Amino acid sequence: MRFLGFAIFPFLSILALSVARDSVTTDGRTFTGCLLRLSNPSYPISSAIYFPSNSTYSSVLQSYIRNLRFNESNTPKPQLILTALHESHIQTAIVCAKYHGLQMRIRSGGHDFEGSSYVSDVPFFILDMFNLRSINVSTEDETAWVEVGATVGEVYYRIAEKSNIHGFPTGTCPTVGVGGHFSGGGYGVMARKYGLSIDHIVDARLVDVNGQILDRASMGEDLFWAITGGGASSFGVVLAFKIKLVHVPPTVSIFTVERTYAQNLTDIVHSLLKIVDKLDREVFIKTAINVVNDTHLVEKKTIQATFLGYFLGDPTGLFSLINERFPEMGLRKSDCTEHSWIESIVRWNNFPVGTSVEVLLNRNHPNLQHLKRKSDYLKKPIPKQGLESIFKKMIELETPMLKLFPYGGFMSEIPPSAKPFPHRAGNIVKVEYGTNWDENGIEAANHYINLTRNLYNFMTPFFSKSRGAYLNYRDFDLGINHHGLNSYIEGAAYGIKYFKDNFNRLVQIKTRVDPENFFRNEQSIPIFPSIGSQ
Ligand SMILES: Cc1cc2nc3c(=O)[nH]c(=O)nc-3n(C[C@H](O)[C@H](O)[C@H](O)COP(=O)(O)OP(=O)(O)OC[C@H]3O[C@@H](n4cnc5c(N)ncnc54)[C@H](O)[C@@H]3O)c2cc1C
Ligand SMILES: *[C@@H]1O[C@H](CO)[C@@H](O)[C@H](O)[C@H]1NC(C)=O
Ligand SMILES: *[C@@H]1O[C@H](CO)[C@@H](O)[C@H](O)[C@H]1NC(C)=O
Ligand SMILES: *[C@@H]1O[C@H](CO)[C@@H](O)[C@H](O)[C@H]1NC(C)=O
Ligand SMILES: *[C@@H]1O[C@H](CO)[C@@H](O)[C@H](O)[C@H]1NC(C)=O
Ligand SMILES: *[C@@H]1O[C@H](CO)[C@@H](O)[C@H](O)[C@H]1NC(C)=O
Ligand SMILES: *[C@@H]1O[C@H](CO)[C@@H](O)[C@H](O)[C@H]1NC(C)=O
Repeated sequence: MRFLGFAIFPFLSILALSVARDSVTTDGRTFTGCLLRLSNPSYPISSAIYFPSNSTYSSVLQSYIRNLRFNESNTPKPQLILTALHESHIQTAIVCAKYHGLQMRIRSGGHDFEGSSYVSDVPFFILDMFNLRSINVSTEDETAWVEVGATVGEVYYRIAEKSNIHGFPTGTCPTVGVGGHFSGGGYGVMARKYGLSIDHIVDARLVDVNGQILDRASMGEDLFWAITGGGASSFGVVLAFKIKLVHVPPTVSIFTVERTYAQNLTDIVHSLLKIVDKLDREVFIKTAINVVNDTHLVEKKTIQATFLGYFLGDPTGLFSLINERFPEMGLRKSDCTEHSWIESIVRWNNFPVGTSVEVLLNRNHPNLQHLKRKSDYLKKPIPKQGLESIFKKMIELETPMLKLFPYGGFMSEIPPSAKPFPHRAGNIVKVEYGTNWDENGIEAANHYINLTRNLYNFMTPFFSKSRGAYLNYRDFDLGINHHGLNSYIEGAAYGIKYFKDNFNRLVQIKTRVDPENFFRNEQSIPIFPSIGSQ
């Protein structure tokens, strides 16, 4: 059956016969031989291949490592990096990697918190997508085609370049890559108004396990559903997404308010959790809670929270709305600033006032650190004594921080099965647990990861038994897959946290489109055991 695809893929149909004589091996050179023989001569592939012996191998590898935990000398390195310059390179890479049994890791922006796009414990190569990053915006039909190697900063910039009334709901950190971000959710400041990026994806181009290029019509609604929220890396290589733009007002507003523990922080956070998901959907309040030095008591630590507000409207509207519904925070008119939509994204990222919007095109992440993240979905407000105990624990642990991201609004109106991402109605905030550190080495990593886990474990009583997690905050603590006889059970451990009741539908689709489980990583969707275990 799958040879049907080769009719539209003539180079492979001839060359598949000649590679059949090669021994199956994971040796990088033999795999490379296959790439060179099978690739379309009109698009030379050798200029896209980097071996460890090439002088630029390290810099290509490092350019999209966004978590310094995986920039260590003992981090497993790829046998080669293929920086695809043309779609045919991806088709060839899949066919050759499958034939030679070499594991492929797909990297777009490299922001995966566990490095799953560029690290593996088995021999592997990286398919790097950063060269494929064109963005074509059409204001007439209010859509854009975006290649996966683009960053969200570039998406923001290219939309604003064409129109000041259009926008797109997506993550706010400008260097995040479209490939991973759009295939796992895509949460940003307009989530309460418009939902996630996946709620506005209308088409996609995907290279499947047979090297065929499919669009939404030819892949069918099931597979399209799976790659918009289920993590595309289990199903194929996405080349581009077509997004539907949304409308943004000419003026949006932002506020920043900082409060320490001594400034009634417990009361403020307690009130916040009672209203933050119920406010008008034009309002978004992110809360970042961390441990700081006490300015009054030397050698003492205290808790500080930063409340960052975003409003699709002018500052007067924001000010009156917040003071009516959330007076405890004590917002002043002077805390609110007014911006165009595109400038608001620059300000939200805390670039200095006056920074040009061109900064969104910068692909260098300004402040790389070692990172660990975990996530949760809060369904019931936390009582005051509970908040007090959490703050006390945070001071004891010192480094881990908590971020609270509001839900409600449009997020609550989307059925949990509409997309693989299931965390919709009934959530007050998404909780992000995070630790950033500067020291290299495994000892430091173990120390800081342990602190993050300690905070997560301490918070257990405040969450339901079926604790959820956000795929885009990838967390290997939830379980990893060895792709053996237990792969379905192992997959369910993290799969149910990320996808709840949508997990089995993802497994079904996976079993149908990739029955030999070529597209796999530590947390990919497994195939059903009846097929996987024979
Ligand atoms: C600094 C920082 C800020 C962040 N801010 C936000 C935020 O505001 N909102 C939010 O929702 N998330 C945020 N995230 C999380 C982010 O959404 C995820 O890490 C996302 O997966 C990153 O996509 P990427 O392409 O950069 O990552 P990559 O590491 O390249 O990829 C992530 C995963 O997707 C797979 N993948 C990548 N490209 C493809 C493709 N073309 N086809 C198939 N599979 C592919 C990879 O194999 C990997 O498994 C942030 C992360 C960081 C590090
Ligand atoms: C890497 O080196 C090989 C020769 O060993 C060469 O063929 C290839 O083109 C080099 N790659 C790049 C990207 O220059
Ligand atoms: C990553 O590691 C390399 C090699 O040790 C080092 O030269 C580089 O500076 C590191 N990157 C960052 C951003 O620290
Ligand atoms: C954008 O348009 C250019 C020129 O027509 C084309 O080469 C490119 O592939 C398009 N990109 C996408 C993502 O459709
Ligand atoms: C804290 O709350 C008390 C009583 O609710 C109030 O009197 C006091 O002014 C508040 N302090 C601050 C700094 O807001
Ligand atoms: C906090 O205090 C410690 C000493 O207790 C000092 O080393 C550190 O630099 C201080 N941090 C900040 C941000 O001021
Ligand atoms: C991890 O944290 C626990 C609880 O605080 C502690 O008992 C343990 O020693 C820590 N382990 C490491 C490796 O730091």
